Amino acid sequence: MGVIKIGAFISGGGSNLQAVIDACDSGQIPGRIVFVASDNPDAGGLVRAEKKGIPTFVTPYARLISEIRQGIGRKLPDHVDLNAILTKQALFTGGAQNSKAERFFTSRILAEIDLLRQMEAYDFDLLILAGFMRTLTPYFIDRVNTPKSLPRIMNIHPALLPAFPGFDGYGDTFRHGCKVGGCTVHFIDYGEDTGPIIGQKSFDILPGDSLDDVKRKGLELEWQLYPQCIQLYAEDRLMVEENRGKILVKIRK
Ligand code: GAR
Repeated sequence: MGVIKIGAFISGGGSNLQAVIDACDSGQIPGRIVFVASDNPDAGGLVRAEKKGIPTFVTPYARLISEIRQGIGRKLPDHVDLNAILTKQALFTGGAQNSKAERFFTSRILAEIDLLRQMEAYDFDLLILAGFMRTLTPYFIDRVNTPKSLPRIMNIHPALLPAFPGFDGYGDTFRHGCKVGGCTVHFIDYGEDTGPIIGQKSFDILPGDSLDDVKRKGLELEWQLYPQCIQLYAEDRLMVEENRGKILVKIRK
């Protein structure tokens, strides 16, 4: 594949983004980051990117969502078939055809249209979500995963999926009394943290460990795992296979 071009979405401090930037700089990942986007204008990771001269842009999700809630938001453009997206999505189960789901997807799709418009300026092979705290809809996913042999959107999640999907993986792991925690890198599908798993790392949770200890142990592993999985992608060593209706990731030797 040569040197791959990587786009990144972030919401926060961007320590995973930094780990990927460092791994590109050291040559571990044969790739470079071509843009960093955020839903949060104050994300610390934007500063990390700017320091490296990487172009950045923001799509203000919070503002768009609050406009829709107040009924002053824009309407979806004609080309968007909301019913088709509601049928495909796997975030809301049972009763997705209600007004809550409609509002949710309308605001997210409007935000995604803005993201996609700003992304047009960049050619990229792989999109990584590095602490991006927004769910992507089939509208966006289908436009990025254009027919290719591999999906093109990767995510890192702070738990050993399929356990503890959602917003607070380390918190959920800790509060459940787990004796082992971990992190997972996976491709994105239409569900919430349900896509094909690429790699995982685990750590012991010892008696006396606090939630902060769990987060620290987990993040240190994330900084190793994410670059390793992106390296596999860049080296063209990942492939997907269907097995009993599930898409699985295989790693070539
Ligand atoms: C990381 O722990 C990442 O796994 C998590 O957010 C943190 C971001 O830290 N991601 C999610 O929870 C995604 N649902 P960072 O901004 O320092 O990379």
